[in-house]
Amino acid sequence: MNDVTITATSKVVPSQLVTNNQLSKIMDTSDEWIRKRTGIETRHLSNDKNTSELALEVGKKLLNQVSWPVTDLDLIIVATMSPDYLTPSVSAQIQGKLKAQNAVAFDLSAACSGFSYALSVARSMLLANNWHKALVIGAEVLSKLLDWHDRSTAVLFGDGAGGVILETRAEKHFLGQDLRTFGELGNQLTAGHTKTNGVLKDNTFSYTPFQMNGREVYRFATHEVPRSIQTACRQANLELNQVDHFLLHQANSRIIEHVAKRLKQPLDKFPINISEYGNTAAASEAILLAECVEKGIIKKGETFALSGFGGGLTCATIIFKY
Ligand code: ACO
Repeated sequence: MNDVTITATSKVVPSQLVTNNQLSKIMDTSDEWIRKRTGIETRHLSNDKNTSELALEVGKKLLNQVSWPVTDLDLIIVATMSPDYLTPSVSAQIQGKLKAQNAVAFDLSAACSGFSYALSVARSMLLANNWHKALVIGAEVLSKLLDWHDRSTAVLFGDGAGGVILETRAEKHFLGQDLRTFGELGNQLTAGHTKTNGVLKDNTFSYTPFQMNGREVYRFATHEVPRSIQTACRQANLELNQVDHFLLHQANSRIIEHVAKRLKQPLDKFPINISEYGNTAAASEAILLAECVEKGIIKKGETFALSGFGGGLTCATIIFKY
């Protein structure tokens, strides 16, 4: 087996849908500001379910789509920046609950690039180890990391999970990739800084909420995403015009419009669902992919780019033939 393909896609979002107008009642913001600056109209927010519960639901939905037993699963990777615990990982939690006892399971932390990073890592591990089946999930409950008094971040994010099953195949599907990390820009977007506690001193436990320099991340995304897509296309030996769909991380519809313009590609090749979900970080590309497959937007044999960007800072594009 030389490559991997996607044999199932799925998504799950919490049932609670929160509108911009609802947020404007608890903070100094407006539907008009949020819509105009980001394209977001609503977001699904979790009251009770944590990240592993959303990931588990996606895992079950994915496994329902295949004909082999869960014990055939070799690998589980969950990309997340909002795990239930620092340990055990979300992946280990769901491995136990799915009874996927033959699967190696670990989480991957690359914020909004996490799903693309995880696809790349999963493919490499399947091929290197002569394994055959992987569950790759992006899952987030970002609402628990948000400072609900900070309008500059609180209005942007949503909760949800999406994922795929990857299986090895003889023919080529994974055509190219470009993964980058810009660690010197890490302080532009941070969440969950755990403080040192000293020894026998202060017994308090705390973490910092989500903080972002929106303008800098915007500049980063509009510069790096087009470059990353072009690099991955070159590696795939494809012209941009030969890519049927560009599935970008859903952080801001203006970023997506900017990238389409920079690449001189029509905007209708860039599916956008941020209006309903907001920014769901590592879950965003996976939710969008599942929707595009469900709605028949991506058809068998078509080529798509998955491109994520965000905390780290990181940026990652995968070119895939479905
Ligand atoms: N409602 C009303 N006004 C607001 C709000 C709000 N929710 N938030 C900020 N403002 C105000 C600001 O205070 C500022 O007011 P001032 O001009 O009086 O100072 C004004 O609106 C403009 O603020 P900016 O931050 O400059 O607005 P900008 O146009 O840059 O939009 C945004 C902000 C939407 C965050 C944009 O910068 C962006 O999308 N950045 C990229 C984010 C991103 O891509 N993140 C991806 C990674 S996420 C991850 O990795 C998890």
